[in-house]
This record gives sequence, structure tokens and C-alpha cells, in this order.
Amino acid sequence: MLRFFTAGESHGQALIAWISGLPASLPIDLEFVNAELHRRQLGYGRGGRQKIEKDRAEPIAGIRHGKTIGAPIALRIENKDWPNWEKALPVEDVDGAEDAQRPLRAPRPGHADLAGALKFGFHDARYILERASARETAARVAAGALAKLLLKEFGTEIASHVIRVGKVELERSPSWDEIRLVSANLVSPLRCADSETEKRMTAEVDQVLRAGDSVGGVFEVVAHNVVAGLGSHSQWDERLDGRLAQALLSIQAVKAVEVGTGVSNAGAYGSEVQDEITYDAAAKRFRRRSNRAGGLEGGISNGEDVVVRGYLKPISTLRRPLETADLVTKETVKAAYERSDVCVVPAAGVAGEAMTALVLAQAFLQKFGGDSMAETRQNYDAFQRQLDDF
Ligand SMILES: Cc1cc2nc3c(=O)[nH]c(=O)nc-3n(C[C@H](O)[C@H](O)[C@H](O)COP(=O)(O)O)c2cc1C
Repeated sequence: MLRFFTAGESHGQALIAWISGLPASLPIDLEFVNAELHRRQLGYGRGGRQKIEKDRAEPIAGIRHGKTIGAPIALRIENKDWPNWEKALPVEDVDGAEDAQRPLRAPRPGHADLAGALKFGFHDARYILERASARETAARVAAGALAKLLLKEFGTEIASHVIRVGKVELERSPSWDEIRLVSANLVSPLRCADSETEKRMTAEVDQVLRAGDSVGGVFEVVAHNVVAGLGSHSQWDERLDGRLAQALLSIQAVKAVEVGTGVSNAGAYGSEVQDEITYDAAAKRFRRRSNRAGGLEGGISNGEDVVVRGYLKPISTLRRPLETADLVTKETVKAAYERSDVCVVPAAGVAGEAMTALVLAQAFLQKFGGDSMAETRQNYDAFQRQLDDF
């Protein structure tokens, strides 16, 4: 069973990603893991922190001689900002620590600040925001990179692109090759496959920056060359669409998830939505004339690209803060302001790729199993022969 967890606070010493259940002898390309971390840090509309941090994953368990050994893997990502926070967030309760604390008593609407303070009984939301922060997605991206490496061994690649920023929307459907290219592009400001639309998206970010406001948007994740038969229709919690939706919704600020073109499908007729089936005799595979289902039917992958979208609300922290109530005095005050991004759609897309990779890798290992890559490959090849002979 592939499982993963993360630990770490936004301004703590480090983040930790823990991933267990990968077969032994999977080659781990650390440069690839670090390149994924770099991609997460990019995007037009990010705050100052991305300039301080240059995230790198340091494996501390489970990888030896460049390969997995079938043991749990732990990756450590250092927070470069820690020296500035050491006194505010000491592990030991040192004398005078209160003076150095950076309390947050004016909970920011849209953040976990108030709900978390009520839940844990804190009159200072500092510990809540430290863990709720999307800095945590760095650990997810590191774990997701390992899942991507597993899937890549079997021909599956995952990419993302931005299809909406605020009011500006991409009005065409790019091909897989275009998506793959823009996903890997390190200079494209918003990772949109259409340069004209990207210019308008960039202007949208400039406009909210000037106004002291923030903006949301939509990213699309595409998993290309996914084997048919992952997930299951037989139990609610085995359905791959539901599992992907939970994984994407768990990303900070993602408030809705779409599978394929599910949102517009709801307003169309059945004849306009279902994807007709054909048979490619040369490839010995069933194919579709369209992919509005996003590669998933009945909670099972059907052999087409898996396509999921994450809808982000606008960033909660505002340079022109909204009103809130002080956690101690209960008086009306302005919400706290901490250094903040104003647009994170491309970065959220990279986190979306990681979550998609982790869910697909988990479903892949549930179907094909194997304690070593050799065993997993044997099982996978046997299923491919079964599809050939279908
Ligand atoms: C990559 C990424 C970066 C983010 N950066 C910020 C930020 O700088 N400031 C902010 O207010 N929210 C940011 N968020 C969103 C908040 O973390 C999120 O809205 C908050 O934790 C509350 O969770 P919820 O919106 O899922 O309810 C970011 C989200 C993502 C995915």
C-alpha cells in the first residue's frame, strides 16, 4: 500500500516527506526531484519567499546507491528562513521566548487561523498558520516526484497548465504535446499554452497587485498514457475519480475539482457528452473519439488521458486587509498581513501533478503489486498481454 505523509511548519527547521510502499530497485533521480521543487516555486504573482528559498530534497532514509530498497523513504527539505524564526518558534520553552514570539491575534478571513485557534484552544493563531500554510506543498511535490518516477517506468507522464487566472480564460484545448511543453517551461510566467491569453492573464495579476487584491484561477492536470483498469467501480472509496478529487481538494485554496469537462457536461445533452468507442486493430486497443470523461468511467481508468482540474479561490491574505475580530479582546481590527503571494495557480498545478501522481501510483500498485520493480513489471506485462488478447 503506497502511503505518504508530510510534517513541518512553514517557518520551522525543515519539511519532511515520508513515503512508504514503493517497490525496491526503483531508480531515484534526485535532480528530477529537485527540478520538480523548483517548478513549484515559479509563477507570476509569487511573494518574496520564493526568492529566499531554493528548495532541495535531502533523502535521509530508504534510498541507497541511487535506488529504493523497499523501506520507507524520508526526504528533508530545509527551510532557509529558519534562522530568522528560530527565536519565535523554539522547540524548547526557553526563558524570554514570549518576547520573541510573533503572535497572530487578528485571524485572516479565508485562512485556517480562526477555525484552528478555536479547535486547539490557542489565542494566537501562529501555530495554526504555520502548519496550514501551502509551504507544505513542497513536501507533497517531493513525494509526488517519486510517484512520477515510478509511473514513468511504465510510460505514464503527468503535466499541468493554467487554463484560467481571475476573469481571463483559455478558450481552446491544447494538445498533449503543447501541455507537456508549457508544463516544463521554466520561463513562461503563468504556464498557459496560449501566449496571447498568457499576456492577458499577466495583466490580470498586475491589476490585482496594484489594487492590493488577490486572484484565483484554474489549473488542469493531464496524466498521459495511463493503463486502463486502475481504480474500481465496486466500492465508493475505490473509485479513482473520487480519490483524485479528494487529493486535489486537499491542496490549499483548491475549492472545487472537475473531472474531464464535467462542469460544462452538466449543461449539455448526453449525445454531446459521451465519448464514442472505436477499436485500433494495429495497437490492439479500444480508443475514444473524444475525451470529455477525462479518462475515467465508473471510477476506472479507461485508457485515455486522465484529466482533472483544480479551481482555486483568490489568495486569502490581502495587502488591504479585511476586518476581523481580535482573538483576545474580540474588538474589530484589520486582519493580519504576512508576506504573501497574489496568484499561485501555476504552483498549485505542480502540487496537483504531485497529488495526481501519488493517487495514480497507489492505484497502479494496488492493481499490479510487487515488492521489487522486477515483480511489478512482470505483473504489468502480463496484464498488457491480457489486453492484447482481449
Ligand atoms: C502553492 C500555494 C501557495 C499559496 N500561497 C499563499 C500565500 O502566499 N498567501 C495566502 O494567503 N494564501 C496562500 N495559499 C493559500 C492558503 O494556503 C490557503 O488558502 C489557506 O491555507 C486556507 O486553506 P483553504 O483555502 O484550503 O481553506 C497558497 C496556496 C497554494 C496552493
